[in-house]
Amino acid sequence: MSKTLDLTPASTATDPAKPRGPQMKVASYTAYGGPETIAFTERPIPTPAADEVLIRVRAAPVTAGDARMRSGKVPRGLGLLMRLAIGLRRPRVAPGWAFSGEVAAVGSGVASFTKGQRVFGLTGFKGGAHREYLVIKATGTVLPLPDTLTFEQGAAFFFGGLTAADFLIDRAKLAAGERLLVAGATGAVGGAVVQIARHLGAHVAATASPANNPLARQLGAVEVTDYRKGLPSGPFDVIVDVMGSLGWAGASAHLAPGGRLALITADLAQMLGAAVLPRPGKRKVLTGTNKDDLPSMRRLLALHQAGGYTPVLGPILPFADLQKAHAIAESFHKPGNLVVVM
Ligand SMILES: NC(=O)c1ccc[n+]([C@@H]2O[C@H](COP(=O)([O-])OP(=O)(O)OC[C@H]3O[C@@H](n4cnc5c(N)ncnc54)[C@H](OP(=O)(O)O)[C@@H]3O)[C@@H](O)[C@H]2O)c1
Repeated sequence: MSKTLDLTPASTATDPAKPRGPQMKVASYTAYGGPETIAFTERPIPTPAADEVLIRVRAAPVTAGDARMRSGKVPRGLGLLMRLAIGLRRPRVAPGWAFSGEVAAVGSGVASFTKGQRVFGLTGFKGGAHREYLVIKATGTVLPLPDTLTFEQGAAFFFGGLTAADFLIDRAKLAAGERLLVAGATGAVGGAVVQIARHLGAHVAATASPANNPLARQLGAVEVTDYRKGLPSGPFDVIVDVMGSLGWAGASAHLAPGGRLALITADLAQMLGAAVLPRPGKRKVLTGTNKDDLPSMRRLLALHQAGGYTPVLGPILPFADLQKAHAIAESFHKPGNLVVVM
């Protein structure tokens, strides 16, 4: 079992007869439920294997995905699938999907990273980033953190950004000059969609709550309406429905012939419908989950370096406030990305 996935209960992780080596604080889920089901334990700081690096984590995002995994609350029809994947009675994955930090030690066979180097990356679906130290393969999903990003921005970089790039570029194939509507434009995903779409040359309209209207404009939306009152005037070539609040029923009248509706949040029926139901006017519904591999990470970094994407930072909390962070993340109304700092 990978060291980032060590789920041994803290009480049996160390032999009380042996002297305790250096310890670190590790978060875990004790059950599906509210933020109170997050617990902290002490574990020995791991030693990297020959092909691994040990990272002193400095910041990690607390995302909508983290909140869903902890609570078990996923779009309709997907609950059983999720529990079959990550645990029937409690999440058997460790909390935390992404990180930024410094290399604290390298394995004997690692030449690509050096001690003290700033890095950022993904622990991915298996989790394990909500802790003070983690080990990861040097050839895994970890990259040098550029000087243009702080640790907090590095932690926030991938979640919304990878999703936005995947849906806009790979699935919707957004082209310069096309008209895009982003429904829910200022959270982790929406904030990235607006920026990347502008960078690709699209005309971006958006919806946001009144409090977030200025942020949506600042990110690059040229027309912004309150989603409780209606949509900007279409038709649109692409509609990105971040929370799935429009669906085909709410979006189709605003979608041009050949248009694509990207449901970032979709329930099982919408996913099946996207795959099999024909839509008039050669229109399409797109659903799915984004890839979290090195090529996708490198593409997003290239977009950042070309001036097309920098993650929006929202609340920044100390690691000790992880339960509070989860409560904010599951509101689905946070501006940008929430990170905890270690
Ligand atoms: N398919 C995938 O691979 C994938 C990947 C990542 C995330 N997701 C899903 O995407 C969703 C968003 O994630 P996130 O991290 O961006 O969440 P977030 O940071 O909490 O942002 C949620 C956004 O949705 C807006 N919103 C809330 N209720 C709305 C409504 N009724 N109509 C229109 N907009 C509404 C919010 O606007 P205000 O704050 O202005 O109210 C905010 O901009 C989650 O359901 C998550 O599970 C899917």
